[in-house]
This record gives sequence, structure tokens and C-alpha cells, in this order.
Amino acid sequence: MSDLAIIGGSGLTKLNGTVVTRQQEYETPYGMPSGTLTYGTYADKEIIFLPRHGDPHVIPPHKVNYRANIWVLKEHQVKNIIGINAVGGITGEMYPGRLTCPDQIIDYTWSRAHTFFEDNLSTAMHIDFSQPYSRSLRSLLINTAMNEKLDLSPAATYGVTQGPRLETAAEIERMERDGCDIVGMTGMPEASLAKELEINYVSISIVANWAAGKSSDEITMQVIEKNMRNALEKVHALLAAVIPKI
Ligand code: HPA
Repeated sequence: MSDLAIIGGSGLTKLNGTVVTRQQEYETPYGMPSGTLTYGTYADKEIIFLPRHGDPHVIPPHKVNYRANIWVLKEHQVKNIIGINAVGGITGEMYPGRLTCPDQIIDYTWSRAHTFFEDNLSTAMHIDFSQPYSRSLRSLLINTAMNEKLDLSPAATYGVTQGPRLETAAEIERMERDGCDIVGMTGMPEASLAKELEINYVSISIVANWAAGKSSDEITMQVIEKNMRNALEKVHALLAAVIPKI
């Protein structure tokens, strides 16, 4: 049984390089996860892969069943999750094609089912979310990227928006004033749900485009997809180097 799961985001409905042993569909008390779980080995280590947006990619960020996704991984005794997220770059060093391992989150999402702790409680539950990501997994990723000479920014504040539309230039300006370096739609509530179930969680965020107003170019799906395709090679190199160490 694997204790590591990868949740693939946009551009990553399948994890190429996985030697697949089986695939299975599950139901949870929170409904169906985004897709079938794929079990296999990647870089000779057992992993479970789950496509966040389904396979094919049809589930928009605000419709992802984050609770079912995290619950089903907990039921499989998963202890570590690497989430892969496509994001827009807000600050100058977050240029398209770059990878980053965010260390902080500002949550701008609304009305998503975002907690396991709401019904039939014997006592109110408030998790400590000061550090939303696993320190040890982040260090491992950052050190591995450095050793492999892969361009990964070692910290970023990830502003999570509701989507599915992209932001206005004014919204991005406000987010920059708030301290956000990158903007995406899928970082929450995935990170806090993993924390609620005491699973170590980390994100590899892929900068797919300049955020709204940060470039004179229109943000098109073609630009996003092209940058994602190029950056995914780096993601694979990073995963291949880091997974055997987890
Ligand atoms: N905004 C929000 N989510 C995103 C973006 C963006 O610019 N690019 C990729 N995901």
C-alpha cells in the first residue's frame, strides 16, 4: 500500500511515467472523488494518482469534490500528498514556466464545502493552519530541485480565487497588496482538508501565465496550455528525483 499520493491539476490528468498496476473507482461519505484512483509505481516507489479535474479534464475548480478526494486518500492510509497546481504569476519573479513551492495561502474562495468538522461534533474543532504546507515535504522538494538544478522558487504566497473566470486587473492589484505572489483556483480547500485529516501536504505550483494586468497580452487557454506543457517536463524531473526520498 502506498503512503504517497499525487493530485494532478490542469494538464496532468495522467501521470506519464507511472507503471500502472490497477485503477479503481470509490465512493465516500462525501460523494464521488474526481476520478478513479490509479495505483502504480513511479520512480520505483508505490504511489496513488488522482486527477483533480477528472480524466478527461471536465470538473471546474469550484466543482471539485475536495472532501471526497482527501477522504478517499485518507482511507488508503496516505500520509503524504503532492498537489500539482496551475497558477498565474503576480510578482516579478513568478514568470510563466517557473515552478514554485508555496509556503503560504490567502483564501478568497467562497461557498466550497471546506471542512470535515461540521456535523455530529462532540466538540468544536479548529485546526492550526499557521503553516498550511508540510515543512518537511517543502524542504525535501526545495533541496531536491536545487540538487537537480531545476528552477523552483522556494516560497510564495498562493492567493486562491473562486473561478472559473480569471481575475480582473484590479483584483490582481489588490491581491498583490495583500501579499500574494501567485494566483490559482485549486489550492483551497485542498490544503486545509488535508491538514484536518493530518496528512502532510505540499504543492508544486506551475506558473502558466502572467496574472491579469501583469502583461499586455490576453490570457488565452492556448498560452496557458503551451506554458504548462513546457513546465510539465520540469515537474516530471522533480517528481522522479523527489519521490524515491519520500
Ligand atoms: N488565475 C487563476 N488561476 C489560474 C491562473 C490565473 O491567472 N492561471 C492558471 N490558473
